[in-house]
Amino acid sequence: MTSDIVPAIPAGTLCAAAQPSLTSRDGELLLRPWAGDDAAVLLAAYQDPAMQRWFVRRLQTHEDALMWIATWEREWQRESSAHWAIARADDGAVVGRVALRRMELLHGLAECAYWVLPHARGKGIAPRSLVTLADWAFDEAGFHRLELMHSDRNEASCRVAAKAGFAGEGIRRSALRHADGWHDMHQHARVQGDA
Ligand SMILES: CC(C)(COP(=O)(O)OP(=O)(O)OC[C@H]1O[C@@H](n2cnc3c(N)ncnc32)[C@H](O)[C@@H]1OP(=O)(O)O)[C@@H](O)C(=O)NCCC(=O)NCCS
Repeated sequence: MTSDIVPAIPAGTLCAAAQPSLTSRDGELLLRPWAGDDAAVLLAAYQDPAMQRWFVRRLQTHEDALMWIATWEREWQRESSAHWAIARADDGAVVGRVALRRMELLHGLAECAYWVLPHARGKGIAPRSLVTLADWAFDEAGFHRLELMHSDRNEASCRVAAKAGFAGEGIRRSALRHADGWHDMHQHARVQGDA
């Protein structure tokens, strides 16, 4: 199959190298690929009621967490998604996760996802991580447009999007099912060249 457009990111470009580690502009956060040693913190993260409110995935065992991390490694190789652990640069402690899902290289599209551990919330870790990820995605990887979507009831996530420069684009009605039913989803995006 051929196309009249030049791929934004030619297939094979990303997976030709190891998934990079990324440092936040202020140097305080290190985004790095997940490792098997992170399984315990990943498992703990998914026991948090706020996580269970906004995400439907349930992790029940250490093995579940290990398998998910192994899946993320394969997804980088397939260029379908990319997942980073957010670690504090000073002591290496993992405080959250940021990801590019549904990567579509022909047009340079992807969807961002993020969470932060309860004890680390309220310190701007998610927006700084999102900016770090966008810097890499636009300036180095060649993405054209990054989207993110949150429940219209998730005000904290809306603040993260705004602080990271993802403009609101409207409401997708009844677009995603949560544990308590269907939610309207607020769509945001940043496009290559946005401030
Ligand atoms: C949403 C989330 C990622 C925000 O991460 P963060 O690093 O705390 O982001 P910020 O520090 O910029 O705070 C964002 C907002 O969270 C709220 N907040 C502040 N302190 C908080 C705390 N201690 N606990 C929870 N929320 C807090 C505020 O509304 C804040 O906005 P403001 O800075 O305008 O007051 C985090 O709360 C989280 O992981 N929540 C559960 C999972 C989730 O909702 N993921 C997103 C799904 S779309």
